[in-house]
Amino acid sequence: MKLNLTKTRALYQRAKQYIPYGVNSNFRYWGDDRTYVISRGRGAYIWDADDNRYIDYRLGFGPIILGHAYPAVTQAVCEAIQHGTTFAFTTPWEIELAERFTRMTGMDQVRLSNTGTEATMHALRIARAYTGRERFIKFEGQYHGNYDYVMFSTPGIDVEKLGSRAMPRRVKGTEGMPNAIRNYMISLPYNDFEMVEAAVKSYGEEIAAIMVEPIMGNVAGVMPEPGWLQHLRRLADAYGIVLIFDEVKTGFRIARGGAQEYFGVKADLAAYAKAMGNGFPVSAIAGRKAIMSVVEPGKVAHGGTYCGNVVAAAAANATLQVLETEPVFEQMFDRGQELMDGIHDILGRAGVPHVMTGVPSMFSLLFGRDENPTDYRTYCQNDFAFYERLAEALIERGVMVDDDSREPWFLSYSHDAQVIAETLTAFEEAVYAVTGRRSVSKVFARAA
Ligand SMILES: Cc1ncc(COP(=O)(O)O)c(C=O)c1O
Repeated sequence: MKLNLTKTRALYQRAKQYIPYGVNSNFRYWGDDRTYVISRGRGAYIWDADDNRYIDYRLGFGPIILGHAYPAVTQAVCEAIQHGTTFAFTTPWEIELAERFTRMTGMDQVRLSNTGTEATMHALRIARAYTGRERFIKFEGQYHGNYDYVMFSTPGIDVEKLGSRAMPRRVKGTEGMPNAIRNYMISLPYNDFEMVEAAVKSYGEEIAAIMVEPIMGNVAGVMPEPGWLQHLRRLADAYGIVLIFDEVKTGFRIARGGAQEYFGVKADLAAYAKAMGNGFPVSAIAGRKAIMSVVEPGKVAHGGTYCGNVVAAAAANATLQVLETEPVFEQMFDRGQELMDGIHDILGRAGVPHVMTGVPSMFSLLFGRDENPTDYRTYCQNDFAFYERLAEALIERGVMVDDDSREPWFLSYSHDAQVIAETLTAFEEAVYAVTGRRSVSKVFARAA
């Protein structure tokens, strides 16, 4: 079952002439024969350059929380930009957004930036300025953006290179960064209560921050063990460490108040991006007033030409308004649960061993194992090849998922019951194509 991708392939060849690997972010490169060119999106669907339609579960790596080209957001942006976009002064849009944002997240204060990378980078600087300390804890397989301090032991690193669990190595996620910078970071396996406690005890007053993705949003949505986030909170309190939640993926995706609301644990600082703007580039660093107030002109830097620009602020305002006033999370969780149950059922009936991780608005499926992973190392023990084959079969049937099981399936408010039913039909066909085994109910139905 092959899609006609003639125009898509031709456009990609053109892209490759002028853009390294034909993509403007390395993560988008799936190989010369498999990198797509997408020309438009609407609601839960996207179309490639050949007009093949896909149900989109990648959603731009997570930001599209309401649906592609969601009318309330595009209209708000179109209206706002009639009157200019960038003024080098505060605009009413930013004030309205800050009020709404702090109300929804429970954070005292917020500063805007443009990307998740900027948000976590500034959060780290603020934590260092606040504590006067330089080191920070980061967990293996967690991704906090594309800057040097945090680009160690990132997702995708060969697990063999991480060394023993008791003595984790800090493995560079990219060439081109200084070696010495690794000394600022303490790298630990996620969900390891004892190791984090031992690290905090031994480095104690040198640690400025614990930076954590509350759900491993770049490793299949691996969940925190019960009590894990509370444990980090207690250690941070005991040692005067700033607890930073990287909510770039979880923020405005798993609850109105993000992971802090979902798990009932308060961070000192948090970084937000993605779902906050439904696909428009906007991010935020938010936190307790005592910590945020170290940001001061001439003292602790935060800034950027486009921070809080009208496009970003109008988009975020419109997105958060829908999230605040409509049953977005209730609906996404219901639909997501239907999808997870349906997938689980189909795989079970086809006899394919699997586990499902994450929450219904952001979940993954892993093959060849029967226990949920708890960290990057245990995640790596699964059947990647089967996932890739299934992903390819799904894409051929019009369901766009990432070809890498690390990246969760994301839902939006536009994924309605019909979209889920369509997905499950394609899923069942894809499982059959990959395994040769039809689910038991279909076989019986046919025989009858
Ligand atoms: C948890 C997390 N933090 C930070 C980032 C960086 O965000 P951005 O790509 O907007 O710079 C990402 C990106 O995927 C992310 O998943």
